[in-house]
Amino acid sequence: VLAPPELQEKTLVLVKPDAVQRRLVGNVIQRFERRGFKLVAMKLLQADQGLLDKHYQQLRQKPFYPALLAYMTSGPLVAMVWEGYNVVRSTRAMVGDTDSAAAAAGTIRGDFSMHVSRNVVHASDSVETARREIGFWFQRDELVAWESGDQDYTY
Ligand code: TYD
Repeated sequence: VLAPPELQEKTLVLVKPDAVQRRLVGNVIQRFERRGFKLVAMKLLQADQGLLDKHYQQLRQKPFYPALLAYMTSGPLVAMVWEGYNVVRSTRAMVGDTDSAAAAAGTIRGDFSMHVSRNVVHASDSVETARREIGFWFQRDELVAWESGDQDYTY
């Protein structure tokens, strides 16, 4: 039985290289698991400039882009796709403000990041962006559909 469409919303989360270095991958995953979201794809990889140019196409003209590229290619990162009800909006709330100083305590950035240039995670900012970003980071057959009893919930 497939989950209803509203439970199949997906978002892309990147655990950035600073967080891999700091051994924060498990902590980030645990937050999404305990919220009830479903992991449907995950891999560790070294991103290259071509991929990041696509992922951050809106930021390529920004003065901080060269530094962002250097940061994002400084080591492996973990790319994940999480699925569930309103997962895009919930994930942005769990990640916290782009500006680490403004990120609420209890959010990932609010707990682990001091500065925007080392802000630990990426999360898609809309359902449409998520669809596009997932396509940059994953092949179609890397997304796994699996049963988790979600269809028993009533909404
Ligand atoms: P953005 O898409 O504005 O934020 P978010 O990641 O919260 O969706 O920016 C993308 C990344 O670019 C951000 O996570 C970190 C980096 N960045 C900087 O390094 N300096 C900056 O001043 C900004 C705005 C972003």
